Amino acid sequence: MSTGEYISLADVQSHNSKEDLYMVIDGKVYDCTKFIDEHPGGEEVLLDCGGTDATDAFEDVGHSDDARSLLPNMLVGELDPAEAASSSKSKPNTTTASSSGSSSPNFVTIAGFVIMAVAGYIAYLQTVAAKSE
Ligand code: HEM
Repeated sequence: MSTGEYISLADVQSHNSKEDLYMVIDGKVYDCTKFIDEHPGGEEVLLDCGGTDATDAFEDVGHSDDARSLLPNMLVGELDPAEAASSSKSKPNTTTASSSGSSSPNFVTIAGFVIMAVAGYIAYLQTVAAKSE
């Protein structure tokens, strides 16, 4: 088994049968063929994910550390980084939407809510004060 090799998505997609099953999890390519019969979650789900990027499916299940510790034994290589970047499942890294832009709208939203809440409270206090006069 050779590790540290780049594998294209097309290559992964060609390994999609019960006799030959690759899948991508977190940018790494795993040969799960021998594991199909042993998977506690059943062979069906593994076959469904065969030849694809299974990162979301794998994470959605909330696999244990035990499950994760099995992965290195099945590693065959890394997904070609050029393709990993264009895959929707990859980490957001070199895209034009830089991190500086994404954190400020959050702050503005929160500040907006706080201002609205304070304004509402003041309005409420004034109503109460007006009634008691
Ligand atoms: C090669 C990758 C995978 C490994 C090594 C693996 C390993 C395991 C292990 C050890 C468990 C037992 C529970 C735990 O320890 O978390 C498990 C459960 C499960 N796995 Fe996977 N799994 C893999 C991929 C997948 C994928 C791609 C799916 C797709 C949805 C999946 C679906 C499930 C489900 C639904 C269970 C829950 C079974 C239950 O709770 O009864 N697994 N897996």
